[in-house]
Amino acid sequence: MTIIVTGGAGFIGSNFVFYELKNHPEDRIVCFDKLTYAGNLATLAPVMDNPNFRFVKGDIAERADVERLFEEEHPDIIVNFAAESHVDRSIEDPGIFLKTNILGTQVLMDACRKYGITRYHQVSTDEVYGDLPLDRPDLFFTEETPIHTSSPYSSSKAGADLLVLAYHRTFGLPVTITRCSNNYGPYHFPEKLIPLIISRALADESLPVYGTGENVRDWLYVEDHCAAIDLVIRKGRVGEVYNIGGHNEKTNLDVVKTILKQLDKPESLITYVTDRPGHDMRYAIDPTKIHNELGWLPATKFDDGIKLTIEWYLNNKEWWKNIISGDYQNYYEKMYANR
Ligand code: NAD
Ligand code: TYD
Repeated sequence: MTIIVTGGAGFIGSNFVFYELKNHPEDRIVCFDKLTYAGNLATLAPVMDNPNFRFVKGDIAERADVERLFEEEHPDIIVNFAAESHVDRSIEDPGIFLKTNILGTQVLMDACRKYGITRYHQVSTDEVYGDLPLDRPDLFFTEETPIHTSSPYSSSKAGADLLVLAYHRTFGLPVTITRCSNNYGPYHFPEKLIPLIISRALADESLPVYGTGENVRDWLYVEDHCAAIDLVIRKGRVGEVYNIGGHNEKTNLDVVKTILKQLDKPESLITYVTDRPGHDMRYAIDPTKIHNELGWLPATKFDDGIKLTIEWYLNNKEWWKNIISGDYQNYYEKMYANR
């Protein structure tokens, strides 16, 4: 089987490429990625020579790029991770979020209709449900929770989800959607909270906490997310949405203090900064459906996952230092100049 992983040079997509090559050596994995600022080909260096793997540079919103890919690869399954993913950037400049996240999804699904596939899978987010109040810890997002977005990012992801469900109902495209909570783990781009705090704390730099730091996120170790998507694309019911999350709710301040403690750095590094406009208060997933239907449960508790993550950032300083210095963006030219 050939599986196209769009956005596979980013954080979760690269972890998914590694997961699939390790757990399904019978399958061919093709990563299709535009290599935006968030894509890093160096991340995929360990699998570049794997005969079951191919990297293709291209844009999901460019029909010609996508159709060439389908004509060359005749894929069975598309797993769409490619997206603009950072809420703060979507507040600065929403346009590219609409183009990649919504129009890119349309272009991919049009190619699926034209060439035929067995499954189109959309990697979505719990942010499409908006947020929950801090004083109602009894409330969780289920698949029935109404879509109610806050940021241009979450709105673009919600728009894409609705389009995916429309392509299923109107054209019979065999789709599935997963909506996952915040991920953390290896290869997380250092603009996001956890890697930002780790890299800045190691340099004894101030640690920006938005507002009061009371906002709650439901953290999931990235490998658990990959395992859930793997189950859904192989055994999930067509036309269905599955929420993914592991009941690991933490305030941002708790997360920052946990990292500081592990790194033996002082809490005086914490600096409260102006809050994010429209900042969602709390995300919390009810994963009953995926547990009951597919037997998925997260394997990694936050206390263990955060230790593994910190250890990874300590052992892979070159990876994130290259990103902070901007060097990684020359990697494609270096790798591909003579190919
Ligand atoms: P990321 O920003 O680390 O990676 C995105 C990847 O997509 C990059 O490699 C980038 O080069 C590529 N890309 C961007 N625009 C493209 C385009 N037009 N064509 C082809 N490739 C393009 O993102 P991530 O954190 O790995 O998230 C992956 C997916 O998972 C996204 O769809 C995101 O909405 C979703 N998600 C993320 C989280 C999270 O906590 N990070 C949680 C739930 C869902
Ligand atoms: P982030 O990693 O951007 O993910 P998301 O906004 O998709 O949940 O942020 C996680 C939380 O951390 C969110 O509540 C915003 C907050 N945050 C900070 O307090 N400081 C920061 O520098 C960043 C990047 C995020």
